[in-house]
Amino acid sequence: MQTDFMAWLRQHDNRAYELYEEHVNPAFVKMLKTIGFDKCYVRGEGPYLWDAAGQKYLDFLTGWGVFALGRNHPKVKAILKQLLDENLPNLVRMNCSPLSGLVAEKLTEHVGGGLTRVFFCNSGTESVEGAIKFARCATGRQDIIYCDHAFHGLTTGALAVNGADFFRERFGDLLPGTRKVPFNDLEPLERELSSKKAAAFILEPVQGKSCEVVKDGYLAEAQRLCRKFGTLLVLDEVQTGLGRTGKWFCYQHWDIEPDIVCVSKALSGGFVPVGAVVTRPKIMDAVFNSMERCVVHSNTFGQNDMAMGAALATLQVIEEDHLVENAAIMGEVLMDGLKKIGATCPFVSEVRGKGLMIGIDFDRPKDSFKLKAAWDMLHKLNFGVFGQMIVIPLMQKHRILTQVAGYHTEVIKFLPPMTIAQDDCDWFLRAMQDVLDDTQRVPGAAWDTVMGLAKATIRA
Ligand SMILES: Cc1ncc(COP(=O)(O)O)c(C=O)c1O
Repeated sequence: MQTDFMAWLRQHDNRAYELYEEHVNPAFVKMLKTIGFDKCYVRGEGPYLWDAAGQKYLDFLTGWGVFALGRNHPKVKAILKQLLDENLPNLVRMNCSPLSGLVAEKLTEHVGGGLTRVFFCNSGTESVEGAIKFARCATGRQDIIYCDHAFHGLTTGALAVNGADFFRERFGDLLPGTRKVPFNDLEPLERELSSKKAAAFILEPVQGKSCEVVKDGYLAEAQRLCRKFGTLLVLDEVQTGLGRTGKWFCYQHWDIEPDIVCVSKALSGGFVPVGAVVTRPKIMDAVFNSMERCVVHSNTFGQNDMAMGAALATLQVIEEDHLVENAAIMGEVLMDGLKKIGATCPFVSEVRGKGLMIGIDFDRPKDSFKLKAAWDMLHKLNFGVFGQMIVIPLMQKHRILTQVAGYHTEVIKFLPPMTIAQDDCDWFLRAMQDVLDDTQRVPGAAWDTVMGLAKATIRA
């Protein structure tokens, strides 16, 4: 065993990509190298990352929404250190620890309404699996209705309610009885619900892969229809939850009360994987309906002390540092700024989202012949690569980490930490103006890069 583990670890920094290529996922390494994202980060603090050369990066990806508090938040760290130092009787399993009860108490306080029970798990996809099982068990029905373009995770149950063929292809038959409806469209939803076969209707209030937001009035009507036809309304707040959209939970913008809420990502504080299914006692009691069935849905690591400590600390930091309020204020700063900048770029068709979950959608420009021709040429080679013309220079020229929203879409998405301050919003908006201006220089370096990338993708 190394006496100085960190010194030993640092010696291997330059082997990271080689090791990953050999033993983990060579295709991922190839992708990172192709777009020039093969950096060696050595430190993360708040909204920033630093590489080995000491260069500072602004993180607008936040580990896909995990680092809502920024990286290595000192209050969460302090609580985790105290827990580690205590030699706690972790995961005894045949006992009840106060930590999980305290997290459940605080979480349900913020969810509100009659959703007073929590099932703990280890990830977003596992919370969705739990929601599907609970809904089936509580209603005695099998079918699950989901939305086009939905993303709820990649285990087989959650994959069965994924709205993109790309993720499902080549993985065989998934859950039976899943039925897709268009997002934000009540008529087809009512048609599916009226069969009275659906246990649940599951949706994200802001879709992660498109940044489409539910229309005003949509959720209230969806809830009314679900109740009318005996279907449970499941809101997947894995990405939107815990303040990101400017309310503790996104559905609270519309004053409705779902039957089940899925939570994960930010709850971890960026430290320990955790997930939660929050629901009504009636639903939970239908699942765990006898002593014999008291762990009929369970997992080994759920409720472990470190996860619960991280979750409790995270909830406290969100409250004490007024991060929900900050997300609302800074979300407006970014949305307003991006809308103004977007209006100057003929490729931007829409800037949309809620709070600090913002997407930019790109489309073929309407006027300039030169820009239309460039767009067409790129799209003949590859659909969905245009976003890289923004993401790559944001990283290479401006040291801002972002990502396209999903495969085969023209949307790029921004998920800054909820702690973000005005200075960093300014850094980001200046950079966005610059990279969007560059898209209009044809021929130009930005187009050369993305054409090269499209050709490399075809060759691969
Ligand atoms: C809305 C939503 N649900 C579920 C998941 C799956 O979460 P996990 O990756 O933790 O399984 C994600 C992940 O991005 C998500 O955005």
